[in-house]
Amino acid sequence: MEQYLIRGGVPLVGETDISGMKNAALPILAASIMTDEWVTLDNLPDVDDVRVLLETLRYLGARVEKTGRHSVKICGSTITTCKVEYEYIKKIRASYYLLGALLGKYKNAAVPLPGGCNIGSRPIDLHLKGLNAIGANVGIRYGTIVGKCDQLTGAHIFMDTVSVGATINIMMAASRADGRTIIENAAKEPHVVDVANFLNSMGAEIRGAGTDVIRIRGVKNFHGCNYTIVPDMIEAGTFMCAAAATKGDVMVRNIIPKHMEAVTAKLYEIGCEIEEFDDAIRVVAPRRLTRTHIKTNPYPGFPTDMQPQMGVVLALASGTSVVTESIFENRFKYTDELTRMGAQIKVEGTTAIIDGVEGLMGAEVSSPDLRAGAALVIAALAAEGTSIVDDISFIERGYEDFEQKLALLGADIHRITQRPDRLRMTKIG
Ligand code: UD1
Repeated sequence: MEQYLIRGGVPLVGETDISGMKNAALPILAASIMTDEWVTLDNLPDVDDVRVLLETLRYLGARVEKTGRHSVKICGSTITTCKVEYEYIKKIRASYYLLGALLGKYKNAAVPLPGGCNIGSRPIDLHLKGLNAIGANVGIRYGTIVGKCDQLTGAHIFMDTVSVGATINIMMAASRADGRTIIENAAKEPHVVDVANFLNSMGAEIRGAGTDVIRIRGVKNFHGCNYTIVPDMIEAGTFMCAAAATKGDVMVRNIIPKHMEAVTAKLYEIGCEIEEFDDAIRVVAPRRLTRTHIKTNPYPGFPTDMQPQMGVVLALASGTSVVTESIFENRFKYTDELTRMGAQIKVEGTTAIIDGVEGLMGAEVSSPDLRAGAALVIAALAAEGTSIVDDISFIERGYEDFEQKLALLGADIHRITQRPDRLRMTKIG
């Protein structure tokens, strides 16, 4: 199993380019088979989750041609099956976006139920409720979500909970329904907007994405298009937190600063200097930061996907911070690992009470999931001494060239395949 060996205590300094957004790329890739013409996608992140979904599209019969590291051409005219194998769903939960795409185009889909995920229980009821409201006839048979109908028909749908996945799945299918669909209490995340823009580039008529009411007029057919995926706000936020935790000075480039507001506001509040440019943000953390409270919320609230990284920053800030997780109940697993590095954190239900410490100490820790893994890397970069971060395959699902980008900012980070026989705990600085 591969690990990162990190010697911490070095402030990160420099500039880094942010890749395309994984959570936009996955539904866009699924939606790209909804036309029989060629679709060209640019700014595709080169991460494991994207590679798995490209494999899944090939399995379904689509033609997939990688034209560069960050670009791909896809043609859905040769799709031979509407049944996705469990093997793919097991690897990435987001394969469930094929449900909306296949139903929209073929009015037929069979997608195995995604397994549990280690950030908490991830129900699928809102996807089913919305798709059934437009007549998809979706049900669960022997562990697979099966939907078949002659025609989808627009409907007025109220989402009980704000869900990114359900909003996108319903939006994809409804864009090929007969008549108008209105989704109320829709998710407003930038990736929802990006998927709507992509569908519109293929000929869909979707208005209001980015607000909580999305209006869709169904169309009969889609056509090919060229589309560039938006920058990854979570990758950008991760590097901003890495700058803050290591008392560094980092410019994240190729981003949309508006998407970063919740993170930027918190970093500013706790004492970082923030400079904003048209497509970049510079974070400078010249001195010890101070406590604050955080509560995760749907966009434009503080993103749950940034909670662990900000938790590490607060573990090093002076005073007591309270972090409340309101989206996924199991997102504090990283705090046990952080405690082993010297952090003082008490978790009670959905709240973590963090008493900031002066410094962390290197240790051997395991990534519990994608974002928590990135957070532990940040902790290791800020800690005195040497750390090993295990289970980095989680991190590679969503971060392109993570260790190379960090190394370019001055981090002492190496990928190792085996734990060295004798790890010498070196005191740095
Ligand atoms: C997406 C992101 C994930 C991010 C999350 C919240 C992808 C691939 N993943 O996940 O990184 O953390 O948004 O921003 O884009 N819920 C239901 N019923 C449903 C669906 C969801 O009750 O049918 C609940 C969930 O349990 C959760 C909340 O709704 O409490 C939000 O989940 P949702 O926005 O759907 O997350 P995902 O789309 O799975």
